[in-house]
Amino acid sequence: MKTVKLANGVEVPILGFGTFQITDPQEAEKAVKDAIKAGYRHIDTAQSYMNEEAVGKGIAHSDVPREELFVTTKVWVDNVNYDGVMTSVERSLERLGLDYVDLLLIHQPYNDVYGAWRAMEELQKQGKVRAIGVSNFGVDRAVDLAAFNEVTPQVNQIEINPFQQQAKNIEALKNEGIIPEAWAPFAEGKNDIFNNAVLKNIGNKYGKSVAQVIIRWLVEQDIIVLAKSVKPERMVENLAVFDFELTEEDKKEMATLNEGESQFFSHSDPEMIKWMASRKMDI
Ligand SMILES: NC(=O)c1ccc[n+]([C@@H]2O[C@H](COP(=O)([O-])OP(=O)(O)OC[C@H]3O[C@@H](n4cnc5c(N)ncnc54)[C@H](OP(=O)(O)O)[C@@H]3O)[C@@H](O)[C@H]2O)c1
Repeated sequence: MKTVKLANGVEVPILGFGTFQITDPQEAEKAVKDAIKAGYRHIDTAQSYMNEEAVGKGIAHSDVPREELFVTTKVWVDNVNYDGVMTSVERSLERLGLDYVDLLLIHQPYNDVYGAWRAMEELQKQGKVRAIGVSNFGVDRAVDLAAFNEVTPQVNQIEINPFQQQAKNIEALKNEGIIPEAWAPFAEGKNDIFNNAVLKNIGNKYGKSVAQVIIRWLVEQDIIVLAKSVKPERMVENLAVFDFELTEEDKKEMATLNEGESQFFSHSDPEMIKWMASRKMDI
């Protein structure tokens, strides 16, 4: 599969398998096993998904050697400080059954991100994580973090989908050497995305589904995509995006779908920040 090279040379498979909202342990283990069997080599989890142990079992029970897989986890808000990172990442590694993760992210831009970042820089030097980055950070916050630390965030995982295209932010991140990763590429099905006429018409020209058109559109922008499905046939479908190309006309049509706002919530909404701050991961 095509890879994207991070600033420190680490190569990331451009299409990853997302595991958000797969909370049932058996389902999560099976989904990860099925995804690896289908051909995914990049798995995205988080402390807050409450499935690291099941994801680890799925990895362990797959036939693919660890070093061929790229595994990401994320530190939840209540662990975002120096000691919280040091302790909770050890616990994440135990749950995952791994000696290292390939990418460690600060999940949300709250709490003591500076203390957390310094711990993450140390973990990277110790080889417990191969790359470090952030998620849901505005470009300003990511640049500020980079300005006062040794390591620039190697990725920023943000919501990117046809309704929230983030073109300016993507360009600004790339200019800073920060690779964008797209979460909720299908907007989790919101806004009836899988029946969107523009996306369907584009797909029909190539014999491709709406999901495949969206993934292709992101891959062509060199954005790392995280797509989630618990259905093996959809896992396979979502991988079959490397045999067609979108035209400039297709991309212009897709640009008209942008609503320029999140399909979920604003990361600057005080009520959301308070809610996230109150969620404890008990690690
Ligand atoms: N950093 C963050 O704050 C953050 C936030 C959200 C997500 N993420 C990451 O990004 C990943 C992807 O985002 P997401 O899981 O929120 O949503 P998503 O990938 O946009 O959408 C998942 C939904 O699309 C359906 N689906 C998948 N493939 C399909 C296809 N080919 N045809 C029709 N329906 C299809 C899935 O249903 P089935 O499962 O039933 O197939 C599921 O309901 C997550 O799993 C997680 O790893 C990160």
